[in-house]
Amino acid sequence: MDQSQAPVLEALAAHHANPLTTFAPPGHKQGRGADPRTLATLGADVFRSDVLATGGLDDRTASRGILEHAQALMAEAVGADRTFFSTCGSSLSVKSAMLAVAGPHEELLVGRDAHKSVVAGLVLAGIRPVWVDPQWDAERHLAHPPSAASFRAAFAEHPDARGALVTSPTPYGTCADLAAVAEVCHAAGRPLIVDEAWGAHLPFHPRLPTWAMDAGADVCVTSVHKMGSALEQSSVFHLRGDLVDPAVLKQREDLLGTTSPSTLVHAALDGWRRQMVQHGRALYDRALDLAGEVRARIAALDGPHVHGREDFCGEGLAADLDPLQVIVDISALGTTGYRAGDWLRSHHQLSLHLCDHRRISAQLTHADDAATADALLAGLCELVAAAADLRPAPEVHVPGPGRLRLEQVLLPRDAFFGPTEQVPIGKAPGRIAAEMLTPYPPGIPAALPGERLDEDVVEYLRSGRAAGMLVPDSADPALESLRVTAGNGGR
Ligand SMILES: Cc1ncc(COP(=O)(O)O)c(C=O)c1O
Repeated sequence: MDQSQAPVLEALAAHHANPLTTFAPPGHKQGRGADPRTLATLGADVFRSDVLATGGLDDRTASRGILEHAQALMAEAVGADRTFFSTCGSSLSVKSAMLAVAGPHEELLVGRDAHKSVVAGLVLAGIRPVWVDPQWDAERHLAHPPSAASFRAAFAEHPDARGALVTSPTPYGTCADLAAVAEVCHAAGRPLIVDEAWGAHLPFHPRLPTWAMDAGADVCVTSVHKMGSALEQSSVFHLRGDLVDPAVLKQREDLLGTTSPSTLVHAALDGWRRQMVQHGRALYDRALDLAGEVRARIAALDGPHVHGREDFCGEGLAADLDPLQVIVDISALGTTGYRAGDWLRSHHQLSLHLCDHRRISAQLTHADDAATADALLAGLCELVAAAADLRPAPEVHVPGPGRLRLEQVLLPRDAFFGPTEQVPIGKAPGRIAAEMLTPYPPGIPAALPGERLDEDVVEYLRSGRAAGMLVPDSADPALESLRVTAGNGGR
C-alpha cells in the first residue's frame, strides 16, 4: 500500500476545497452557527473539519471506503491483520476486545493491575474475572505486570477461561514478557488481549520495548492520544491470527461505540500513522536520546531518584521498561508526589503525568526537545531547593503487597447493580464494595465491585485522600462513606 497517502486527511482537504451544503449534523454547519466567542478560542478550522463521517466526508453507503482505507494502512504499518479506529478512547476499545473474547458468566484471566475501564467491561458484560497477581515490588510500593508463570498457573486452575488480558506497558512504563504470556495463552488455545494504552509508539522504533503484535498477542488496544500525536480520545485496536473473529470484534465495538464518530479524531489517527511510517525512526531516535540525557541530569540531583531498568526489570519484576516514562522517586525530599506535582504546576507551569504518594513522573514523547527538557530540570532543581516548604507531608499508609489483594466475593456486575447502601468509611471494612475506588492517576482500582473491603485498603484510601490522592469514582467524593452491597452479612 502507499503509506504516503492519508485518506481521511485527503478527503477532508477535498471537502474544504469543495464543501457540501449540508442539511445534516453537525448543527454548527462548518462553524457558521458557532458562537464567535467559541470560535475565538477553538479556532474556525476545528469546526470546518468537524464533518459527519458517513453521509458527509464519505457518502451514505461509505462507497469511497475512506475509513476502511485508513484502517488498512494503519494495519499494514504495524503488521496487524486488521485495525479498527475508535473515537472513544481505549476505555471503549478494551471493552470491545473483552466482549469479543468472553461473555456473561464466562471467565477471563485479568492482571489485577488493570485499568478501571477493564473493570467497567467486567461489570457491563458480567464476565467473571480470574485475577492474576501483578509482580509487586514491596520495597518501592509498585506493581509490575504479572509473569507468564502466573498466567500459566491461572489457566491450569481455570481451564475454561476464555482468554487473558494483560496491561503492558503500565502507566509507569514497565512491560510484561508478552511473548511468554502469549505462548501460555496459545498453549491453552486461548487469545491474549494486551491493553497497550501507553504503547502507541512502540511499533515504530527498535529501541522501544516489543509491541504486543510482534510478541504474538491476538488483540492489542492502544490510546494514540497518550504517547502518540493523535487527538484526545483517539484509540485503535489491532487484531491478528484466527482466535478472535473480526466480525465479532467489530460487532462488540458497534454495541458500545458512538454512531457519530469524530472525523477530527479519524483524521488525526490517519496523520499519526503516516508521520510514524515516514519519520518515526528519526523522531524516536531523538526522543530516546533526549530521555537518556534527562535521566542523567535528574540522576545528578541531590534527593530525587530516577528509576531505570536496574530498579524495575529482572527476576520477579518487569521484563522491560519504556525509557520515555521518566519515573522519579522523591520520597527522600520528605514530601509526596501529590504535593510536588501541585508545586511544580503552580510555581513552574509544569504539568506532570503521574503523581503518587512517593513519585512524580514526566512522560516524554517525540514532541519534546531541549527547551522542554530544560524547563523540567529547572523545575526539579527548584523543587529540591524548596523541599523544606513541602514538609511535613501527610503520610499515606500503603499496605504490603499481600494486604492489597482483596477477596472477590461476588461477580462485579452483581455487586454493582444489586442493592447497595452507603456506610461511613470506618464501617466499611468487612463489607463488599459496590463501587470502584480508584486512585487516579494511574487509574487502577484499589477496590472494585464484589471485593470484600479490609482495614488496610480502607486506611490506604482514607490516608491517601487526606494526603491529596484523587478517587474520582467513589459515590461520595469526600470519601467519608463508601458504597457497599446491602445486607450481605458484613460486619
Ligand atoms: C492502562 C490503561 N488502559 C486503558 C486506559 C483508557 O484509555 P483512554 O483514556 O484512551 O480511554 C487507560 C487510561 O489512562 C490506561 O491507563
